[in-house]
Amino acid sequence: MAHASGPSLGNVIPGEFTHALSQVQYRVYQQDGKVWLSFDRDGAGEIHGKRELLFFIGSGHRGRTYVFGEDGFFFESPVNWYGQKGVWDMTPAYQNARHIPLNLPLSSECLSCHTNDLQQPVPGTENKYGVSIVTQEGIGCVRCHGPGDAHSKGSGPILNPAKLPASRRDAICMQCHLEGSVAIQQPGRSLRDFKPGEELQDYVHYFVLSQSGPGLPALSQFEALFQSVCKQKSGNAMSCMSCHDPHYSPSPAEKVAYYRSKCIACHGEKFAAKHHPNEQSCVICHMPAVTSSNVAHTQATDHRILRNPALGSLAATTQTQPALKRFPPSSEMASDRDLALAWQSLAEEGMESAVPEAEKYLRGALARHPDDSTLLTAMGFVAQKRGDLTQAKSMYEKALANDPLATVAATNLGVITAQAGDVGRAIALWQPAFDRQPGRSAIGVNLAKAFCAEGKPDEAILEIKRVLEFNPDLPEAQEMLQELSKNPSQCRLQ
Ligand code: HEC
Ligand code: HEC
Ligand code: HEC
Ligand code: HEC
Ligand code: HEC
Ligand code: HEC
Repeated sequence: MAHASGPSLGNVIPGEFTHALSQVQYRVYQQDGKVWLSFDRDGAGEIHGKRELLFFIGSGHRGRTYVFGEDGFFFESPVNWYGQKGVWDMTPAYQNARHIPLNLPLSSECLSCHTNDLQQPVPGTENKYGVSIVTQEGIGCVRCHGPGDAHSKGSGPILNPAKLPASRRDAICMQCHLEGSVAIQQPGRSLRDFKPGEELQDYVHYFVLSQSGPGLPALSQFEALFQSVCKQKSGNAMSCMSCHDPHYSPSPAEKVAYYRSKCIACHGEKFAAKHHPNEQSCVICHMPAVTSSNVAHTQATDHRILRNPALGSLAATTQTQPALKRFPPSSEMASDRDLALAWQSLAEEGMESAVPEAEKYLRGALARHPDDSTLLTAMGFVAQKRGDLTQAKSMYEKALANDPLATVAATNLGVITAQAGDVGRAIALWQPAFDRQPGRSAIGVNLAKAFCAEGKPDEAILEIKRVLEFNPDLPEAQEMLQELSKNPSQCRLQ
């Protein structure tokens, strides 16, 4: 975890490749004391440019990505280093990109799991930071031991995670090692504010979507371990620390003996001596590598610790209706708000059957939290999807009244008002939203079109140039700029 992030300089993996689909040649290299990503396409749609890579994220063992800045906003590079294959290629989400995606916002979530600093983005932005975002390499003591004030002042010992009640102990690893299918921040709370020693569930509730069908679902180490007989029979006596020492990673040569000793701590020397004495590695048989482990955020080693991994888990998977379950299992009833936002988030990812589920819980949730702008925006989205623009509009208006920085509400409301003919209002909604999130090209393109409709070509050109500053390979914006520069008077007719 010491190499989870850090400055690019001194940590560059140079390389180049041509992405076939977009015909772009990408190159990562160091020059004059700086690290660069260049992108070049010749011929049709010719484009050449480069960005300075400031930080890296990921040790590179499985993968690594780099971060660049543009006018104070931070973005993830569109190309990744794939550690296992030893190649540079497009970021997983952009394998099929036909253009150069340079506007992938570096979310504060990435930073809170991969860096020591818990920087807050400037309010209303997703990825603008007023300060340096990575001030030390890797994850430091503070993330697991809490602020060291008391310790450094000599007034007391550091917080020892091993001595905490089980749920608080587990929370320390879970804050970064669990994503769930959905994670719902509790009202007014943010995972960033969590401090070691606290209960994680006061900040965030995790839900996993129960999956059925053959094959091993993509699991985190937490979800997998909780399915293991070892954990189920040992209860709180077993934790990540039963096998891992966060201060120490065994070298390849030490691994077999290291993990064997951890198994033996529970299963006993006597059992181990008689059980497959010809093979020292317990892990090779009971915790094999998961084959489809190219996804950075799922386990690469099977933490279900099965008796016979080839046979798979005996747990029946008869469920057909997808269901959301709290993880870790909680006796607390899931709130309407949790379920509403969890289904809503799945709906936004494209799961059609999640829409009615979200709506069902949203009503109850809004009755309890009538001023919750996250819920109001979610309800607006559901209503808009259903085609009920009157309700959608009223929900978005309320969301904005409670939180003027609610960008999604502003963006969607702008679309509804523009379609209804009130272009001036749409501009008033989109302009500040695009200022805060200039990487969101769709808002900028809409804004430019709106200025055209108002007969303001100069403003339209300004906005479309801003779109291209962050997303230079967007054909729609390139064409629009060309048209507008050639023939500003055509603007009104667009
Ligand atoms: C909830 C915490 C969390 C979030 C959010 C998160 N990561 Fe990770 N990431 C991890 C953990 C933990 C690992 C190591 C996982 C493993 O090996 O099983 C990891 C692994 C990686 C790796 C591979 C690193 C290696 O060791 O080879 C990359 C690259 C990466 N993450 C990038 C990102 C980016 C970019 C984002 C934001 C879009 C992000 N992560 C968001 C926790 C997180
Ligand atoms: C990824 C989480 C993590 C990080 C980062 C981390 N520790 Fe720890 N540390 C732990 C855990 C968990 C324990 C308890 C281990 C056990 O007893 O099984 C522990 C135990 C300790 C102990 C023993 C405490 C006692 O009361 O006996 C000391 C000392 C310590 N850590 C110092 C540090 C220092 C210094 C750093 C930074 C250089 C650091 N740790 C970084 C998780 C972490
Ligand atoms: C602040 C976020 C954070 C916390 C807290 C955290 N981890 Fe990690 N951990 C990561 C990231 C990120 C990676 C992947 C690092 C990389 O890119 O190499 C990782 C990697 C690991 C690895 C595999 C690589 C290695 O270094 O051996 C283990 C094992 C691990 N963590 C265990 C733990 C345990 C146990 C705890 C709780 C005591 C814990 N982690 C707490 C973020 C965290
Ligand atoms: C914290 C204690 C603990 C640790 C550490 C532990 N186990 Fe277990 N394990 C148990 C308990 C308890 C059971 C239940 C059966 C029993 O009592 O032997 C069990 C059961 C098992 C089973 C049988 C699973 C089944 O489906 O019936 C296997 C296989 C196993 N462990 C392998 C391992 C291996 C391999 C390791 C090390 C990588 C390991 N265990 C580490 C406590 C532990
Ligand atoms: C029974 C022992 C055991 C327990 C308990 C355990 N792990 Fe592991 N873990 C392993 C082994 C073995 C590996 C593979 C190490 C290797 O090959 O370098 C591993 C690997 C990892 C890795 C590297 C990525 C991967 O999947 O290979 C991470 C991250 C990790 N463990 C996190 C955790 C977390 C978080 C917990 C607690 C929820 C946990 N582990 C509990 C044995 C264990
Ligand atoms: C060569 C592969 C192999 C190795 C190495 C191995 N196991 Fe097993 N283990 C098995 C198989 C196969 C079974 C299931 C046997 C059965 O179902 O009768 C098993 C069963 C078990 C069980 C359940 C035993 C019972 O009687 O219910 C435990 C616990 C266990 N192994 C732990 C370990 C530990 C700990 C180590 C390392 C010291 C280890 N295994 C090494 C293949 C292996």
